[in-house]
Amino acid sequence: MRVGVLTSGGDCPGLNAVIRAVVRKTERVHGGAVIGFHDAWRGVLEDDWEPLDIARCRGILPRGGTILGTSRVQPYQFDDGVDRVRDAVDRHRLDGFIVIGGNGSLGAALDLQRDGVRCIGVPKTIDNDIDATELCFGFDTAVHVASGAVDRLHTTAEAHDRVMVLEVMGRDTGHIAVRAGLAGGATLTLIPEVPFDIDKICEALARRHAGASFASIVVVAEGAVPAEGTMDLPEYETDQFGHQRLGGIGQVVANEIERRIGLETRVTTLGYIQRGGTPTAFDRILATRYGVAAADAAAAGAWGNMVALRADRIVHVPLAEAVDRVKTVDLDFYDGVARPFFAS
Ligand code: F6P
Repeated sequence: MRVGVLTSGGDCPGLNAVIRAVVRKTERVHGGAVIGFHDAWRGVLEDDWEPLDIARCRGILPRGGTILGTSRVQPYQFDDGVDRVRDAVDRHRLDGFIVIGGNGSLGAALDLQRDGVRCIGVPKTIDNDIDATELCFGFDTAVHVASGAVDRLHTTAEAHDRVMVLEVMGRDTGHIAVRAGLAGGATLTLIPEVPFDIDKICEALARRHAGASFASIVVVAEGAVPAEGTMDLPEYETDQFGHQRLGGIGQVVANEIERRIGLETRVTTLGYIQRGGTPTAFDRILATRYGVAAADAAAAGAWGNMVALRADRIVHVPLAEAVDRVKTVDLDFYDGVARPFFAS
């Protein structure tokens, strides 16, 4: 067996743990070989690669980032992209690819699979928004970092009697926000799934701070949106891959709080700190399980599937199902578990 492996889209803690597990299981158990392509599909299209073996993967388990590099380049951006991928398959005598990626990258893997290039997907994103799996690796690390930031903001907010707005990642979903807010004891958490009412937010904060010395932490998911007609959103740019660059809603919310109720408010945008650095033990284990399962799936010829976590077991789901829907925050969880701790 010969497989190509690549890491695609935004990086995520645990990518190296997946690579290491794919290599270890393929080489030691299946007697196969792994080729690592650099910077996702760019490496496949431009024949930029390296052989991956157990020795090359020593020491990478706790390292963030990806030893292969990553990019958002997809074969379908080029007229001859799919042909160049097929050339790479022939040149390296590959059985297929293990694609470690998020929604966009898995969508490209599905299209390739339909065009005859065999792929297995591994769900990667700190946003945890892939519906076909209960968890993506990297999410636990992001929540850990974000809830740690809430903890730290509490003490400085208390010292100054301030409102602290913390903007976290998540794209169009609030999984990181709602868990970080809950774990950190935030005063309010705003998520894209539930458009916020700035009037109610300000009323709740004003009540909480009235006549008493109080700190408040408001966690805002980067994709949070105001209820229609209540406030303007920041203008978001789009990058060369058509990917919207979110960010800035935290500042907009903070400005409104200060302007409307006069509470001193500061903003922290956590940004790439959520994505960088060492994965948690939980993510290392989940990533290892995914990598092992992807190698096994390739050995078994189970192409066209994504490995997924369901009821604590790793299963195969068709790629078509994997990219079908974005997983949003369960509103029973938001309303039933998180909301009772919000200021009201
Ligand atoms: O999808 C993961 C993610 O980290 C999002 O939470 C965030 O909006 C985006 O990637 C940022 O991506 P980029 O690396 O293109 O700035």
